[in-house]
Amino acid sequence: MTHNNGEHLKETDIGGVIVLKNIRKQFGEKVVLDGISLNIEKGKTTVVIGPSGCGKTVLIKHLIVLLRPDEGEVYFDGQRIDHLSEDKLRGIRTRYGFLFQGGALFDSMDVSENILFPIRHHMGKIDPGKAHRIVQNKLAMVGLEGYQGYPPVSLSGGQKKRVALARAIALNPRVVLYDEPTTGLDPIRSDVINELILKLQRELNVTSIVVTHDMTSAYKIADRIIMLHNGHIIADGSTDHIRSHPNQIVQQFIHGQADEADLAVLRMNSGSRDIQYTPEDFHRD
Ligand SMILES: Nc1ncnc2c1ncn2[C@@H]1O[C@H](COP(=O)(O)OP(=O)(O)OP(=O)(O)O)[C@@H](O)[C@H]1O
Ligand SMILES: [Mg+2]
Repeated sequence: MTHNNGEHLKETDIGGVIVLKNIRKQFGEKVVLDGISLNIEKGKTTVVIGPSGCGKTVLIKHLIVLLRPDEGEVYFDGQRIDHLSEDKLRGIRTRYGFLFQGGALFDSMDVSENILFPIRHHMGKIDPGKAHRIVQNKLAMVGLEGYQGYPPVSLSGGQKKRVALARAIALNPRVVLYDEPTTGLDPIRSDVINELILKLQRELNVTSIVVTHDMTSAYKIADRIIMLHNGHIIADGSTDHIRSHPNQIVQQFIHGQADEADLAVLRMNSGSRDIQYTPEDFHRD
């Protein structure tokens, strides 16, 4: 493995609960992460923003080594983890909870079994009384008491996300990774998820990393916001820092404005009216 010498953090900087040092990842010719260094602070909520396809999911998968970097290092609690075997990683992963993008519930299992899944997967058999108490406690955490026996198909989108969150915290993780937890939810249901993220941080001192496009959510929950663009972190700081960031790319993103390149594509298609057919055009042939 080669390293990008000269850009390494000093050993004394290994202080966060998760530390990325100079992570580089490419798929084929496409460099997705181009030397990312990041120190995730314990007990804080770090929000990752950036345009679709910029590598947010790839970045957070590195935090738990679901993807291995081409170059660079990942540390958890000061221990280097990017080169550990899958077997050793399984142990480390029990300290994390994750709510992945599109991470669906298992339709063949009821709510209770979904929540217990990570426990059974990592710990094997558990005492039924204990299992019952864990499920009850986690459902109370997400405000879904009494939903134990429900099949996932009978739940709304917001309820499914809450069950997925209950499952993510089943093993009392110290770090929870959320990949777009509010996507597809209306503003009220999104805010329920925001409140849950804040509650977990407050009551269980969880360290959270949240990928989102939703700036309302980002501003509400973040202690720190990071913006990823073209393989680099182009902004990093408090919500106030991001709101008043001088970089135009950051301003366009947080205000949801299309940039010149996007607009140019739309202008190119302006002749499309000429090739619109009506049903009559087909009947005439
Ligand atoms: N396993 C993979 N193999 C090949 N390319 C991949 C793989 N995973 C991600 N990519 C590519 O890496 C880039 C970043 O993908 P990623 O899913 O991290 O984007 P994202 O920022 O999470 O986007 P979105 O906001 O749409 O979820 C994309 O170009 C994607 O096609
Ligand atoms: Mg993604």
